[in-house]
Amino acid sequence: MIAIYPGSFDPITNGHLDIIERCAKKFDKVIVAVSVNLNKKSAFTIEERVDMIRELLVDSENIEVDSFQGLLVDYTKNKGADVIIRGLRAVSDYEYEMQMSMYNKELYPDIETLFLVARGNYSYLSSSIVKEVAYYGGDITRFVPPSIEEKISAKLKGGL
Ligand code: PNS
Repeated sequence: MIAIYPGSFDPITNGHLDIIERCAKKFDKVIVAVSVNLNKKSAFTIEERVDMIRELLVDSENIEVDSFQGLLVDYTKNKGADVIIRGLRAVSDYEYEMQMSMYNKELYPDIETLFLVARGNYSYLSSSIVKEVAYYGGDITRFVPPSIEEKISAKLKGGL
C-alpha cells in the first residue's frame, strides 16, 4: 500500500523525518510530497525543498520524494494511492487537520487520512519556529539535520 505524506516542508525538520521513518516501516511505499500551502510564506523554493529531502533520504528504498501543484486529492489519485499521512503535534493542530481531512474526503471519498502522533520531543517543533530561532541566532541543531541547518544559514545570509 502506498501512503502520501504531503506538506510544505519549508524546511524539513527532525519531526517530519520521524513521521517519514515510522510510515516507511508500515507501508510498502511512502511518497513525501512537497507542495504549496497558500497560507504560508515560504523561505525555500519547492525545488530546494525537494532536493534537501532527497539528499537526506537517498538510502531509503521505499521512500520517494516528489512535489505537486494543485489539489492533494488529485495528486494522490494520480499516484494510485488513497492514504494521506499527517502528523499531529498538539491539540491546536487538530482543528485545521480535521477540516483538511474532511474536505479531502468530500473531494475523493475513497481517501483516508491517517494521523501519526508526533513523538513527545517533537510535539512543539515547527519549520516556522526553527526558521525564527535561526534568524535570531539561536541553536537549531536539535531540531534539524546538519545539512538542513547549513541550508538555513546560507538562506539567512541572503535574507529569509
Ligand atoms: O505542511 P503544511 O503546510 O501543513 O502542508 C499543507 C499542505 C501542503 C498539505 C496543504 O496546504 C495542501 O494539501 N495543499 C495542496 C492544495 C490542496 O489540496 N488544498 C486543499 C486542502 S483541503
